[in-house]
Parts: sequence; C-alpha cells; structure tokens
Amino acid sequence: MQEGERALSVPSSIAVLTSGGDAPGMNAALRAVVRRSVYEGIRIFGVYHGYNGLIRDEMIEMNVSSVSDILHRGGTILRTARSAEFMTSAGRDKALAALRGRGIEGLVVIGGDGSFRGALELMRLGFPVMGVPGTIDNDIEGTDYTIGFDTAVNTAVEAINKVRDTATSHERTFIVEVMGRDAGFIALAAGIAGGAEVILVPEEGRDLREICRRLTSGLRRGKLHLIVVVAEGAARAYDVAAGVTSEAGLETRVIVLGHLQRGGTPTAFDRILASRFGSAAVAALLEGRAGLMTGVRGDQLVFPELEACLAVRKRLDPELLKLAGILAI
Ligand code: F6P
Repeated sequence: MQEGERALSVPSSIAVLTSGGDAPGMNAALRAVVRRSVYEGIRIFGVYHGYNGLIRDEMIEMNVSSVSDILHRGGTILRTARSAEFMTSAGRDKALAALRGRGIEGLVVIGGDGSFRGALELMRLGFPVMGVPGTIDNDIEGTDYTIGFDTAVNTAVEAINKVRDTATSHERTFIVEVMGRDAGFIALAAGIAGGAEVILVPEEGRDLREICRRLTSGLRRGKLHLIVVVAEGAARAYDVAAGVTSEAGLETRVIVLGHLQRGGTPTAFDRILASRFGSAAVAALLEGRAGLMTGVRGDQLVFPELEACLAVRKRLDPELLKLAGILAI
C-alpha cells in the first residue's frame, strides 16, 4: 500500500462495544482498546449496551481514566446485549448513521460469534470493523483461546474440587453441568483438570450404559467419589442423574454451575490475552485493516478473516479428548 493511500484509510476516531454474553476479561480488553487509542493519539468512543446502544447512539468519549480500576473486574462496564433490532436493515442503518454522525471511522467489537455476524453486516455496508473474541465458550474458530474461557474453566474446576469433598464423604455420584452452548470446550478442560470420571460433550456420543460401566468400574476399584462433567449442549444434568440412578442404582446429586461461570475476576491468562487482543485490534484498524479477528495460535497473535472464522465449526482437540478417556479409566 502507498503511503498516501494508507493515510486516507487510517481512522482518527474509533468506537468499541461489548456484545452477547459477557465474559471475564472483557473489561481488560476494553481497557487495552482505550489505552492503545490514546497512545496512538486517536479519539475513542465507548458504546453502551452492544448493538442496541449503537442504534440509540448511546456513546461516550473515553480517556485513560475511563478505564481505570477495571482490569481485574468481571463483566463489562459498557454493559452488553443481544440485539434483535440490529438484525434488521433499518436497525443497521440507524447504527451506521450514529457512527458516521460522530465522525467515527472504525469499530472494535468484543464478543462471540453472534456479535461477529453483526460486525460482518457493518463491513458489508462499508464500515471497518475488527473483532475481538470474548466468550467463555471458546467456540470461535481462528483462535486457540477466547477471552473468558480460562476463567470459566478455573471456576468450574474450583467447584468440582469442592464437590469432590462432599462426594467422597457420602460416597455419592455428582453430575456437574457446565456451560458452553453447543460446544464442549469448557466441559473437556474442566473435566480433565478436575479429574472427572466421565466427561460428556456434544461433539461425542455416549450412551448411558457406557457411562454407567465407567462409573461402576471406578466403584469396584474402591473410588469413593464419582464425578460426571456434562456440557449443557450434550445433555441436561438432571436427565443424566436419573439415568445413572435407574441403570446403575447409584445415589446421585446434581450441580448446575450456570452463570457463575460468567462472573468473577479474570485469571492472569485472560487479562493478558484480552490486553493483547484489545491493543492489536486498534493497531490493525490504524494499519487500514478490517474484517478480521484477533486470535492466538500458540503464543503468536494472528488475524484471521472474520467471515472464514464464522464459516467453520471449531473442533475439540482430538488429543485432549483421547487423554480424557485414558485418564478416567
Ligand atoms: O455464550 C455464553 C453463554 O454463557 C453460554 O455458555 C450459554 O449457553 C449462554 O451464554 C447463556 O445465555 P444467557 O446469558 O442469555 O442465559
């Protein structure tokens, strides 16, 4: 790209929003977006309530102090929403008018795949957008990790540790249901780290008899506690518990971790990931790049095309799946 051409496409004013389900570390990403913008000498606007806020022009100009003291906080100070109105072309036109009305020339969207579909719609209307993957589900292709996943997994593991104490005392079987929408990333990671006897993920079919066989063979070896981690997309924990009781005669208890997994202070891993992603998204816009997502492969930052990431379903690591089976024998 020629120097002159590049200068034309470099925004002097950008905006940032958080959208979809919140994830611990979104604030850290926001802080990095704002501070990198200030560092680069461009104006930065924060949009409240995701795409709904764009449509209603709910924005404020931010500065270094606007993001003080938020690095360690879960949730998102910009609030978030899932916007039905943005799905309509009238809604998108209003959003675009709000952005252009304030002289904003680029947008950073922190969210999951639904949020990125919205970002692509803006790209199609000629507006430059960069995506920053923030979801506890880790179900976005193009990156090894999304912001919030590590924290959610640690929360689930902490819960499993506690459950194990009481499971052992009573010699009971616990079924722990974790989030993840229709993917098993949280279940697989929390199940391995928490030493679950059985891990149920939507990506892999397991019948009740096989689950019970694993549990009863553990009992025969003298195990005092049995823990089944089930991804919400694989089965409902209460159904698994009922099945295990009727098929194997085991006494079961159920814990549905639910939205607990979305809260809490982000881990150091998530804070660092979010800081790298937020800063890199601004840098990319300033290089005249857009329609991309920040991602990480190994330790390297990558910038895959948003459209390509949305077109592919992210796969669970087959090696981890195999390992889960080996360790739980
Ligand atoms: O995508 C994040 C997530 O927490 C999923 O794991 C879960 O299925 C869903 O959001 C819950 O959504 P809501 O907050 O609307 O109940």
